[in-house]
Amino acid sequence: MRLTHQAQNYTFSCSVPVLPKEDMRPPFLEFFAGSGLVSHALAPYFREAWANDICPKKAAVFWANHKGAPFTLCSITEIRGTSLPLSVLSWASFPCQDLSLAGNGKGIHAKRSGLVWEWLRAMDEMPQRPPLLAAENVPGFVSINEGAHYRALHSALVERGYRVGAMLLDAVHWLPQSRPRVFVVAIDARARIPRKLTSEKPIWTHAAAIQKAAAGLDGWIWWKLPKPPRRTATLSEVVDFSLPCQNTAVSEKNMALIPPAHMQKLQESGLSVAPGYKRIRNKKQVLELRFDDIAGCLRTPTGGSSRQYLVLKQGNEWKTRILNPREAARLMGASEAFQLPGTFNDGYKAMGDAVAAPVAAHLAKHLLSPLAAACNELS
Ligand SMILES: C[S@@+](CC[C@H](N)C(=O)[O-])C[C@H]1O[C@@H](n2cnc3c(N)ncnc32)[C@H](O)[C@@H]1O
Repeated sequence: MRLTHQAQNYTFSCSVPVLPKEDMRPPFLEFFAGSGLVSHALAPYFREAWANDICPKKAAVFWANHKGAPFTLCSITEIRGTSLPLSVLSWASFPCQDLSLAGNGKGIHAKRSGLVWEWLRAMDEMPQRPPLLAAENVPGFVSINEGAHYRALHSALVERGYRVGAMLLDAVHWLPQSRPRVFVVAIDARARIPRKLTSEKPIWTHAAAIQKAAAGLDGWIWWKLPKPPRRTATLSEVVDFSLPCQNTAVSEKNMALIPPAHMQKLQESGLSVAPGYKRIRNKKQVLELRFDDIAGCLRTPTGGSSRQYLVLKQGNEWKTRILNPREAARLMGASEAFQLPGTFNDGYKAMGDAVAAPVAAHLAKHLLSPLAAACNELS
């Protein structure tokens, strides 16, 4: 049983190395940059030449952590490609609301997820498109309608002269958070791709939905990525057991929402913390828990049910509270030094929307960085 708070020993965050005076890193553009965890993760490999997001609260987080970074606060619809700096990589973690399985399912041409076309439009306006692209979104992007939304983006990229492949990477391989996300990587079709970066057939990153979406597509690549070392970090190490819980009345009210079978599992689990979300089942609100010492996927706190609860053992009692923004940041792989200005909700939202840093770092180290080197040979 884990009883002690070990957050001080927390070691699975990305650290940004001291860089040489002459910055040789290839430049990158970051669309939908949010609070900047991608910039944080890519920093050892790429130099941020430009970043953009529409949300002032996210911009505050970005600026707090990337002093002097070239960040433009406005809608992507106002961005003109002609004014963007020439770059090797362009990254877009475009909005997921219309592609989420739990969302409205309106798809890749809808108002919010459809902003991905603005990304393409902006790059079309550049004197030279970046030869390397990366896009990130939720699993529904490849699974809804048998991959139709992915296929639409894939065709648009192939038409523009790219070869493209998608991978499903779950942050749980690096962090104690279940967070599956789709990462699309596209490269100028003229680039000579090192053989070690591609596979003849699907590998661990190519879930069934990806294989289905890829079937018969022109210009498809099975990207090869090594598996990360086995994760050892657990949720118990991330949780700050010294933080105050909700008062007895609120805790008891929340505990009463836990289904009896989950309550029994909790008692028998030996765990001192279990995370859960409130959901409606059979028209009744319940607090469903998980018992594998990992957090459920962080979400954007838009309503009462979107915040993750923790049930914590305090002596012989169970108490509840909402996961706090610092714990959320740890679950995204942000370092303890990563600043979260603003309210509790601002910090939680900034992290709930973000890209898990070690996942982006793994992709950058093992795929994007060597691909960027391959792009050097292009005229
Ligand atoms: C999935 S989040 C990306 C988060 C980011 N990559 C991170 O790690 O924090 C999508 C982002 O798109 C931004 N966004 C939504 N509409 C936008 C628009 N019209 N122009 C620019 N950014 C927009 C949101 O503010 C949000 O930060």
